[in-house]
Amino acid sequence: MRLIVVSNRVACPKGDEPIEGGLAAALVPAVKTSGAIWVGSSRKQTSSTEQEGFAQMEPLGRGAVVTIGISSEQFGGFYEGFSNSALWPAFHSRTDLISTNVEHYVSYREVNALIARSLLRLARPDAMFWVHDYHFLTMASELRKLGIAQPIGFFFHTPFPSRDIILSLPHHSELIQAMLNYDLIGFQTDADLENFADYLRQELRLTGNDNVFTTNQGATRLACFPIGIDVEQFAEQAVTSANRPEATRLRSSLQGSKLVIGVDRVDYSKGLLNRLRALDQLLQRHPEFKRAVTFLQVGVPSRGKIPVYRQLQGELASLVGDINGRHSEIDWIPIRYLNKGFSRASLAGFYRAAHVGLVTSLNDGMNLVAKEYVAAQNPVDPGVLVLSRFTGAAKQLDAALVVNPHDIDGVSRAVVQALGMPVKERRERWDAMMETLKSSSLDMWFSDFVSNLAECPRAERCAWTPDVASTPVRSRQLELTAIP
Ligand code: F6P
Repeated sequence: MRLIVVSNRVACPKGDEPIEGGLAAALVPAVKTSGAIWVGSSRKQTSSTEQEGFAQMEPLGRGAVVTIGISSEQFGGFYEGFSNSALWPAFHSRTDLISTNVEHYVSYREVNALIARSLLRLARPDAMFWVHDYHFLTMASELRKLGIAQPIGFFFHTPFPSRDIILSLPHHSELIQAMLNYDLIGFQTDADLENFADYLRQELRLTGNDNVFTTNQGATRLACFPIGIDVEQFAEQAVTSANRPEATRLRSSLQGSKLVIGVDRVDYSKGLLNRLRALDQLLQRHPEFKRAVTFLQVGVPSRGKIPVYRQLQGELASLVGDINGRHSEIDWIPIRYLNKGFSRASLAGFYRAAHVGLVTSLNDGMNLVAKEYVAAQNPVDPGVLVLSRFTGAAKQLDAALVVNPHDIDGVSRAVVQALGMPVKERRERWDAMMETLKSSSLDMWFSDFVSNLAECPRAERCAWTPDVASTPVRSRQLELTAIP
């Protein structure tokens, strides 16, 4: 069987290079061991349309990564436009931030069609396709139009919000109807699955049977597959990384103060401003923590061409400056804000050095940082995870200190509780979380999804739906370079 994995961002990290985003970080090891072919956009946006569709292949472990060239004009409408200014805010329940136009949508549909065309080159009779994330909601309908009858699965890494919110998304009906060309759709949590099923029932008037929805396009099964991490590997990495120069320098620079760590892309869904406000409040209410605690926030720059992301960068920098200005001492600064990415090996060492891991997302599909923080801890003297209830991870890691990130006071109190938690309680909570992580690992997520996809009945598929067919996609000649 040939497994073809598709996602917008792919990664083929060399040595210690950082990997951006939870999706790519999870798929690198999975592709390496499974031997899958992983196809995505090159992100080296081509300036001339002649190069559009150009495919390059690079080995990755037992598998390979194929990147497809997309013109910069089209990539902008697809990525900064419809994907990240319409779908991302909608799926993270920020309907106030939806800002898109029909050009963006056309680019979105065209990029889906372009990548589908490229996939034809890889489609052996025994192939199965696993498409990831909101960038490619219409990929299956494009593949079916091209005559692909093989199983096609989709996984939502983001949340899927309630029907009321989806109704704010332009073209929602076309998009969700197009998704019924997938054989299997996976979700991070039962709540996400339920929201999707509710949309199908209420808006498309479909009646599901045991989460299987049948239309003239065939049967689509909905199922929940919470994504995990390679717990043992990350725990081993943390032991090794603890002795790397970066982690050693970090520990010695703390001068006895306890470390609280946060690691996120700079994204409004991560609740970074609330997090800083909670730390500000902690220092105002508990001056005894001055010099006794240091907060390290890694903020990986993200989607910098989108105004709301640039604005957030500025707000964060200014709030960090304000808090540090008010609370710093001559020999101590409360917040160290590093506006850059680190390799996973470096992060593992930082997590192990931290007494508290702080995740305050306002809305997050899973949040693998929470899982990695737990896996990196020293079993004898583990740190405490303070975790937003609005993450997929909180549905599994209920032994964390689960907080409401909108309650600044509550987050601040949870950090104080974490900093003072006796070792016995820390161990009990950590043991419980490790057990959960081991029973829901990355390997299990990957193989569970693939085996469920393989079992999907091979219905006679046809790609046609009236709404999708009427979408105003510009016709374009696509030249594909042969993939070796
Ligand atoms: O969890 C994975 C994820 O949040 C994806 O949903 C998203 O595509 C990625 O990380 C990061 O986004 P980007 O590729 O735009 O940097």
